Amino acid sequence: MEKFKVFITRKIDQMAIDQISELCEVDLWPGDLPPSREEMLNHAAGIDGILCLLTDKIDAQLLEATGPQLKVISNMAVGFDNVDVTAATRYRIPVGNTPGILTDATADFAFALLMAAGRRVCEAAQYLLDGKWQTWGPSILLGADFRGATLGLVGFGRIGQAMAKRATGFEMRVLYYDPSTQPVPGLNAQPVQDLDELLAQSDFVSLHVPLTEKTRHMVDAAFLSKMKPNAILINTSRGAVVDQTALYEALSKEQIRAAALDVTDPEPLPLDDPLLSLDNCLITPHIASASHHTRTQMAEVAAQNLLLGLQGKPLLHSVNPQVYEEKP
Ligand code: DGY
Repeated sequence: MEKFKVFITRKIDQMAIDQISELCEVDLWPGDLPPSREEMLNHAAGIDGILCLLTDKIDAQLLEATGPQLKVISNMAVGFDNVDVTAATRYRIPVGNTPGILTDATADFAFALLMAAGRRVCEAAQYLLDGKWQTWGPSILLGADFRGATLGLVGFGRIGQAMAKRATGFEMRVLYYDPSTQPVPGLNAQPVQDLDELLAQSDFVSLHVPLTEKTRHMVDAAFLSKMKPNAILINTSRGAVVDQTALYEALSKEQIRAAALDVTDPEPLPLDDPLLSLDNCLITPHIASASHHTRTQMAEVAAQNLLLGLQGKPLLHSVNPQVYEEKP
């Protein structure tokens, strides 16, 4: 049987590649950096399937360049704002993603950011490296308390709910705003009907929403002005959910206490970005899901989505299941 032709846009877990190679002729991008746009267009031409990452833009032009034989797009991420799903659906190409698997790793990391920003871990490490540690001092590097503090979750899907569980262990009060979620029994978290109410009450605000036209720059000057002056913003969702110019203003004027961001817009964030000049802004390079087990599993599910799609079978997780509906 002739093998399917697939393009994998970065080196992923070898077991996933081996599994794909059994059925496919694999074009594996060898670089540590993503293929350029031109390289993407060249490598995509004539393939049956693509396993891509959140760094790869999959749009109508790329689908055109690939050709009508394309059967599946498998994105190794839960977020899929890098894929033009409307265009893929128009061509009746299923788009796969990897939900569920990275919930714990992402919530662990979001909580680590919450604690690091609250207790000023990076500032403290820098203080030491700068030779400023001369003595134990009663008021040196004081930070936030967690017990009894309010955590406001914007978005209460899997990762938001996992945050609520972690916060419960720290005896925090948890509020969440998510008009699309029904109350979840057994979780110590109260829904609020109004985002402003959450912002007015929360000492920590953590973002867990997908990037859509509705959520782009949701955190703008008005949003930030409604947060408490001692509040800390945590973002592990997508960088563009935050208007970074407005965030810089709010942080530099100490309108809010601090921010901890695992995601930025753009990525990577240029080293001369004003946010990087602030002591009260902690930024990490989009690594919330970067645990060994999680990344192995993400590769495995992405491989399975790819193989299922190539064989015309429903994917394990598809963001556009309407492609399977009968044509009207
Ligand atoms: C995702 O899967 O969308 C995450 O951002 C990857 O870390």
